[in-house]
Amino acid sequence: MKTILVTGGTGYIGSHTVVSLLENNYKVVILDNLCNSKISTLARIEKISSKTPDFYQGDIRDATLLASIFKNHPISGVIHFAGLKAVGESQKEPLKYYENNVTGSITLLNEMFKANVKTFVFSSSATVYGEPGSTQYEEGMSTIPINVYGRTKFMIEEVLRDCAQANPDFSVACLRYFNPVGAHQSGLIGENPVGTPNNLMPYVGQIAMGKLPMLKVFGNDYPTPDGTGLRDYIHVDDLAKGHVLALSYLEKNSGALTVNLGTGKPYSVLEMIAAFEKVSGKNIPYEFVDRRSGDLAEYYANPSLAKKLLYWQAEHGIERMCEDTWRFYQQVELSHS
Ligand code: NAD
Ligand code: WQD
Repeated sequence: MKTILVTGGTGYIGSHTVVSLLENNYKVVILDNLCNSKISTLARIEKISSKTPDFYQGDIRDATLLASIFKNHPISGVIHFAGLKAVGESQKEPLKYYENNVTGSITLLNEMFKANVKTFVFSSSATVYGEPGSTQYEEGMSTIPINVYGRTKFMIEEVLRDCAQANPDFSVACLRYFNPVGAHQSGLIGENPVGTPNNLMPYVGQIAMGKLPMLKVFGNDYPTPDGTGLRDYIHVDDLAKGHVLALSYLEKNSGALTVNLGTGKPYSVLEMIAAFEKVSGKNIPYEFVDRRSGDLAEYYANPSLAKKLLYWQAEHGIERMCEDTWRFYQQVELSHS
């Protein structure tokens, strides 16, 4: 049985991936400093999978801790989710983001190489594309990220490609996620951000729970069919499966793989609101306000490379994304944890 180190494994996408790994008979060691997740997620992972991952509360920038984790576990690969992800905050506190995301990743890579571990899956983002001149993003397109967060992701990708160039037996996958939404079907794990959410679906979920009064829809004058922004929303369980398939791919192939994980089908803000209202039976009041600075009108994935190389494609549509989000919000409210 192979053992995978999952950094950021109690976070939103990490926790779903840990469940998927356990279901696929991997052993899992989680390293997370809990800066944006809760320890209670571990018990929820155990409840879903009836398996217990090893857990270390600590930081990816702590080389001593990393060395001891690699020494004490027979780790064959790393899936690296740990990172800060708030675009607005990254613009205000760039060094915090470069330090945590870029320096943290380099510290992790150093310790990993010292332990002779050569398989690495990285959480990248469609945000690395910036504005490449086309709305359907393909992996070979230009990458000019337009915010600090996106630049940290792109820098780490470049570091990883350089490492692959220098080490022929290093296998790395940079997975560029589009807009992750939804929750585990059990309702036990999902995205529950601290404070007011920045992203659309957690905001909508909190309105449905009566915690927020109204959604501000950022712009209804985009050149899109209903004037609101179009995004490629992807169910977090589909993403999780993509990580397990990426690991299988890396077991057989060395070098650097960069691949989109999206559905290829964009939906507007108004379509997402309508889908959520339908499955929840709740009214989501909204008003149109000015465009949010830095938002693009439309982008979505060309997911064909992931299908070809990883045998991966998204299975869940927006109805299921909304159903699972809603189940999770109701459950979180009940448990208060
Ligand atoms: P999340 O905040 O829920 O999970 C990240 C986890 O990493 C958290 O549990 C946090 O406590 C931990 N962490 C952060 N810095 C750490 C550090 N220095 N040491 C140890 N642990 C640390 O975020 P998520 O949505 O699950 O995202 C996971 C990864 O995917 C991130 O790298 C993010 O940038 C990337 N990503 C997310 C999205 C998205 O929209 N959610 C899209 C594309 C890429
Ligand atoms: C979706 C749509 C908004 C909130 C972000 C990051 C990106 C990636 C995924 C990590 C847009 C509209 C939103 C609201 C709204 N993360 N909206 N009212 O901005 O596409 O992507 O998350 O890598 O880097 O930038 O996602 O969910 O914030 O917005 O009208 O209160 O919903 O304008 O059209 P975004 P989002």
